[in-house]
Amino acid sequence: MASTTEIDVEDLTEDQARAELIALARNLADANTAYHAEDAPEISDADYDRLKRRNADIEARFPKLKLSDSPSDQVGAAPSAGFGKITHAVRMLSLGNGFTDEDVFEFDASVRKYLGLDADAPLAYTAEPKIDGLSLSLRYEKGVLVQAATRGDGAVGENVSANARTIADVPAALTGAPDVLEVRGEVYMSHADFESLNARQAAQGGKTFANPRNAAAGSLRQLDPEITRARPLRFFAYAWGSLSEPLAETQFGAIEALRAFGFETNPLTVVCDGPAEMIAHYTKIEVQRPHLGYDIDGVVYKVDDLELQSRLGFRSTTPRWAIAHKFPAELAWTVLEGIDIQVGRTGALSPVARLSPVTVGGVVVSNATLHNQDYIEGRDSKGQQIREGKDIRVGDLVQVYRAGDVIPKVADVDISKRPDDAVAYTFPTVCPECGSDAVREPGDAVRRCSGGLICPAQAVEKLKHFVSRAAFDIDGLGAKQVEQFYADGWIAEPAEIFTLEARYGTGLQQLKNREGWGEKSARALFAAIEDKRKIPLARLIFGLGIRHVGEASANMIALHYGTWAALEAAMEQARPREGDAWEDLISVDGMGAVMAGSLVGAFAQEAERASILRLVAQLDVQEAVRADTSGSPVAGKTVVFTGTLEKMTRAEAKARAERLGAKVAGSVSARTDLLVAGPGAGSKAKKADELGIETLDEDGWLDLIAGL
Ligand code: IVH
Repeated sequence: MASTTEIDVEDLTEDQARAELIALARNLADANTAYHAEDAPEISDADYDRLKRRNADIEARFPKLKLSDSPSDQVGAAPSAGFGKITHAVRMLSLGNGFTDEDVFEFDASVRKYLGLDADAPLAYTAEPKIDGLSLSLRYEKGVLVQAATRGDGAVGENVSANARTIADVPAALTGAPDVLEVRGEVYMSHADFESLNARQAAQGGKTFANPRNAAAGSLRQLDPEITRARPLRFFAYAWGSLSEPLAETQFGAIEALRAFGFETNPLTVVCDGPAEMIAHYTKIEVQRPHLGYDIDGVVYKVDDLELQSRLGFRSTTPRWAIAHKFPAELAWTVLEGIDIQVGRTGALSPVARLSPVTVGGVVVSNATLHNQDYIEGRDSKGQQIREGKDIRVGDLVQVYRAGDVIPKVADVDISKRPDDAVAYTFPTVCPECGSDAVREPGDAVRRCSGGLICPAQAVEKLKHFVSRAAFDIDGLGAKQVEQFYADGWIAEPAEIFTLEARYGTGLQQLKNREGWGEKSARALFAAIEDKRKIPLARLIFGLGIRHVGEASANMIALHYGTWAALEAAMEQARPREGDAWEDLISVDGMGAVMAGSLVGAFAQEAERASILRLVAQLDVQEAVRADTSGSPVAGKTVVFTGTLEKMTRAEAKARAERLGAKVAGSVSARTDLLVAGPGAGSKAKKADELGIETLDEDGWLDLIAGL
């Protein structure tokens, strides 16, 4: 934002004001589109608020210059094409904002003034968290969910009924509700679900999201409701639109009614008897904020008495009876003292900012991520400017941002404070740990060390991953011990963990003499290692630390191939990245071409393959078996679904077949045992016919698995 060149509103000429209002309207419209219609914000919330405030300030000084479609009168963005439109029977409005305690007292004073109440007349308010998601309006008729709509521009929203039905917190039917009930609330995603969704997306080469709110918006606004179903969305009810009869006499009573109908309502909702109590509740919620597990960005106060609410009514876009008391952004400015490069398990060179320690939202921060080379240089992954193209240099005053439990990041830089001797940062082209070339493949935002296992940083990180809880989980062998053993040359790769006793066996002597070890702990360690020789296939696959292969994927891969021998053979056959073995690999649930390529690549790379085989030679790998599928006629069979299924969705058919021990593949090959073909089946049915593969229609399939 060009705050340094901005003219004080008082000094603006009329011509300047007119030109700036037009420019602001355009910038705000672009930002709205990026945020609401594309779920990809281009400017920060704080910058957005600043633009809006500047617009309002200029309008206040030059009221006759206010544009007929001024951004001050708009909420959100117009609905995007693709979904049907729904005109809200009752407009979905936004809330006025307050930032300080004075703003809260002023809000109370303005309500009293409007109602003609004395300062000491009793007046209750509810106070509840402001959930940072997106609002949704759900229409129930005679207790049945008939329609769901996003806010859109407040008057017209998008019809997302099919998607809303996939959200677990959205009841399909209500008991005891009025004949017509429009429930409004917030769709959001928890921090934990957001993190795992992003990890899954990255592994499949898909889009990752900047924050839980964008992830929730992007997930709700999918044209294919099956995608929404697979996303962990949640919903809190906090308001209503049309009603055939009142819910209660108070806001709090109405929330209790919604809860009784079966909605989730926020447990931090309370009734307060005035501004002092409201502010106390705000402070309490602010303290709990980092531990809630979902994003909130303030506290909402509402007049509790619904009759008073209706007397108070609305201004153009906001109610007079409510206000959002926003939390200050968790931002701080500090000096960037240095940039360190960390080398990860997969060789990625990650720049880390070493900061002069600063408190951000109650936590002292001295490191923050700088993401990658482009980010430091002022570009995003598509080569577009970020921060108006400003680069980040050691010595700069930088802005640090923290949201919830997310790793802090360097968000902005103030180049007016840049020291004269600051030089542009040169991103290393060799690995700082092993000196190998660090290569950036076209299309990859990340530069990677090409040293593989000869790189000590990669080797240690791989070992740490190998012993981690979801992998081999060896008691007494954690990250610290692995680092020591590696540094002393005792363990260079996972296989050597299992030869440790043989090599240093008599050397129990040696181990127990080491600092931090005694006879008992040394014996316990060897026993713990011995215990993990017998290892489930899924843990082995995850433990290998292959890029993009997370814990859930490792499980699916293990179930798909069953044994180590089958997996190894398949990796060999899939090496050309085409053909049946490759197609079969891609058909594994949750697998994308990116993950499949990474897996095949690990087995194709000589040094890595040799290291894996040395490890497996030490182990007794347990076959992966599904839960009891005895009695299932399709256990162990490979099934392909094609054409339209009429009695269940594809996702449901697949999940059910897998529960019964079948393997569901995406394409027909000589390995296919059964094709289930609905109407409209084309090339797959033809191929199955040519290969003489048994084919059933949907009813035939349901008969086959009936009762299971
Ligand atoms: S009440 C007429 N309560 O904040 C007012 N809104 O900035 C209806 N929001 O559009 C809204 N938590 O998407 C209300 N507890 C809460 C809320 C909440 C989040 C969102 C909602 C609204 C926006 C306004």
